Amino acid sequence: MVKHVHLLFVVLVAVSFAARVLAAQLKPELLQRPVLKIAPHALASLLLLSGIVLVFQGGWLHGNFGWIVAKLLALPIFIGLGMLAIRREGQQRWLAFFGAILVFLYIGGVAIGKDAFFIL
Ligand code: HEM
Repeated sequence: MVKHVHLLFVVLVAVSFAARVLAAQLKPELLQRPVLKIAPHALASLLLLSGIVLVFQGGWLHGNFGWIVAKLLALPIFIGLGMLAIRREGQQRWLAFFGAILVFLYIGGVAIGKDAFFIL
């Protein structure tokens, strides 16, 4: 149940991130709307919260938890690149955007494989 909630927020965070980068590119004034300023933080907080609940629910801290550490370390990198993608312009925006997507996919891959080095 919590896992489905977590996955729902994974999708909502991905969609809202892509939509904000598009808005920053095409209609930056949209980003000034209070709803669009608050909603992404609410979604990200709920994603984090549901992840933390899953950690305890699954008893993940008792066993092999390297993958959870990897997720938590990658999360601020995703957030940082995401901020750059919205604030910078031109080539820097798109580089940051694709970097953020790669980190996001890495976080998802780590979760599925329960392995920080699943790509190796
Ligand atoms: C961008 C952020 C995140 C993404 C893309 C993401 C993605 C995923 C995915 C795809 C799964 C399902 C894996 C599976 O069952 O096969 C999952 C599960 C899980 N995630 Fe996240 N997650 C994110 C953030 C977090 C955070 C911040 C935490 C911890 C604080 C966390 C902890 C967990 C845990 C414990 C599970 C459940 C494992 C299980 O019981 O099978 N996630 N996540």
